[in-house]
Amino acid sequence: MDKILITGGNGFIATNFITLMLKSGYNVVSIDNLTLSTYLNFKHSTIDSKNFKFIKFDIIDNKIGDLIREYKFDYVINFAAESHVDKSIRSSNMFVDTNIRGTNNLISNCMNLLEEGVLPESFRFIQISTDEVYGSLKNNEPSFSELTNLNPTNPYSASKASADLMCLSYFKTHNFPVLITRCSNNYGPYQYPEKLIPLTINQLIAHKKVPVYGNGKQIRDWIFVEDHCNGIKKVLEHGCVGEIYNFGGNSELSNLDVIGTICQLINPGENLSAHIEHIQDRPGHDTRYSIDSSKSINELEWKPTHNFESAIKDTVSWYVANKKWSSRIIKSDHYTQWMENHY
Ligand code: NAD
Ligand code: DAU
Repeated sequence: MDKILITGGNGFIATNFITLMLKSGYNVVSIDNLTLSTYLNFKHSTIDSKNFKFIKFDIIDNKIGDLIREYKFDYVINFAAESHVDKSIRSSNMFVDTNIRGTNNLISNCMNLLEEGVLPESFRFIQISTDEVYGSLKNNEPSFSELTNLNPTNPYSASKASADLMCLSYFKTHNFPVLITRCSNNYGPYQYPEKLIPLTINQLIAHKKVPVYGNGKQIRDWIFVEDHCNGIKKVLEHGCVGEIYNFGGNSELSNLDVIGTICQLINPGENLSAHIEHIQDRPGHDTRYSIDSSKSINELEWKPTHNFESAIKDTVSWYVANKKWSSRIIKSDHYTQWMENHY
């Protein structure tokens, strides 16, 4: 079966994706520099599979070429990123290093190995990008399609857009076989508790208030992580090189709606205002993201199969049942310092 290198394999989406790919019989090598959490995710550390290997590795390290040469991968999927918008507003250096330099290091090494004939002719590089590269929409504006102009508004999204442009330039200039996915906001198991949904769940479980930036009316198009992972698998198996594929959850909700739904699941019947605290808005806060997934629906026969009401219930249940997973992160110095400095 095909061999895949997954970068950022200890992160939220990649953890869910690896589970899917191992179930489907692929051979997976996962690399991560463990910046986000030094704890290996449960499934990865305990997995008893001759089809899976984890190696601590940084995508900025030029020795990545030796690793790719050794395994002669059929696919490289680049999930590795600094992914938190708020962190990029405080300091953008790591975002430039990992998201731009790291991606460039991967594609240039893969291209050299393809030209040397080390990688198979069928080799594909999949760049996991984001809908944030399109910028922010007003409430009456149409959803983002793959043809929408890039208009990133914060250092995170600017770094992701830069990486996309590097990938597309390699396709145009060198015929490098790259495909790009752009997805909306994911939720589900194994999401680092700095992001809105796991943060809300953990705050409410701990009887603490949820910090709401500004008026809380900003809109995101929420997608259950399994639907995103199924889309990436479709891109790997059926996508065309040089193409971009959008994935959205058909679930545009305001932050207050999302927090309110979670609050009703954890504290049924209670008033939301008792559990939230409006705080200073995120600088340059994007008002609305909305995704038009019709290209992926028509060309890849993909569609999101989870609705928010039921998948958020499963997500809350997962965090309640896996408090140990969150609490190891919440107690870490890295996380406590972030919470103290940021909020
Ligand atoms: P995450 O922050 O949970 O995971 C990223 C992983 O990359 C972490 O495990 C981190 O340790 C690792 N990493 C960071 N720098 C690295 C480096 N230099 N070398 C190796 N590993 C490194 O992020 P996520 O939410 O799972 O996002 C994964 C990808 O999907 C990112 O590229 C992100 O831009 C994209 N994306 C995320 C969402 C979302 O809603 N979470 C939506 C669309 C796209
Ligand atoms: O759209 C895809 C993007 O979604 C991904 O590319 C990013 O990696 C991912 O982090 C996410 O970006 P957002 O900024 O939309 O997600 P976040 O969970 O940080 O915030 C969601 C919304 O909730 C946003 O409007 C800001 C708000 N928020 C967030 C936090 C952490 C709050 O109101 N309070 C908070 O404490």
